[in-house]
Amino acid sequence: MRVAKPLKRIPTKTDIRESGLINDGQNAVHENLEVSVQRHIDHVWRQPLHRPTIDVYRQLVELAPFADGSPFILDSGCGTGSSTQALAADHPGQLVIGVDQSSARLARSGVSTSIHQSGNCVLVRAELATFWRLLLKDGLKPVRHFLLYPNPWPKPGHLARRWHGHPVFPDLLSVGGDIELRCNWDIYALEFAQAVQLATGAPLKVQRIRPKTAISPFEKKYMDRGHALYAVTVPGSVSAGFRRSRPAK
Ligand SMILES: C[S@@+](CC[C@H](N)C(=O)[O-])C[C@H]1O[C@@H](n2cnc3c(N)ncnc32)[C@H](O)[C@@H]1O
Repeated sequence: MRVAKPLKRIPTKTDIRESGLINDGQNAVHENLEVSVQRHIDHVWRQPLHRPTIDVYRQLVELAPFADGSPFILDSGCGTGSSTQALAADHPGQLVIGVDQSSARLARSGVSTSIHQSGNCVLVRAELATFWRLLLKDGLKPVRHFLLYPNPWPKPGHLARRWHGHPVFPDLLSVGGDIELRCNWDIYALEFAQAVQLATGAPLKVQRIRPKTAISPFEKKYMDRGHALYAVTVPGSVSAGFRRSRPAK
């Protein structure tokens, strides 16, 4: 693992943890982050793939024009899929795939099937850790990969549930493309950036963002409440370099 300098918190007028939304009990980057990232890089994660996700993924590969190497954008944890629809409208020449495991959230956009395609927007009900591993296995790489407001899992004991503390993290990074994480908890953003730095050696920053219009329901909720919002952007060259540095499985 390459050595990276620890990242600093960004001072904000409104401390999220005083806002009542995130009752985290964790005030700094998790003390086990580095050990966790290193462990997941060093050990191949052998958990079996999620069967229903394999089936949906196979259908998707048949249906959507991305398995031939055509550029596509991924919206992981898309919730209702409204951000996927917005991204599809902004990128009419590219397929935009939104993935979420929650049938209840997808149903709010009228989606009741495992795969729903409308123009260049495809919404898929699937489990992400398996979905990413399948993309990686097939060498299918998004040009851009959005992780918008992932569940924060704010208690210290939840580190392994955050994407950067999860065993799938090296695969998530290897899937590649320009990755953009957004969240309203600075510690999550700092940890994500630091995990990527630890894995790749690339210097990364956490940025305060002030979107003019909300891209997703959670972004809208947090903007309406006046929360500070953060983004971490990982250039595709960094994720590609990490992917190349990994031994073939
Ligand atoms: C806090 S919501 C954010 C939704 C949306 N991105 C937004 O900004 O409004 C997080 C979403 O991630 C989804 N999610 C969490 N873990 C997942 C997993 N392992 N596989 C698929 N979806 C997952 C949840 O179902 C939920 O819809």
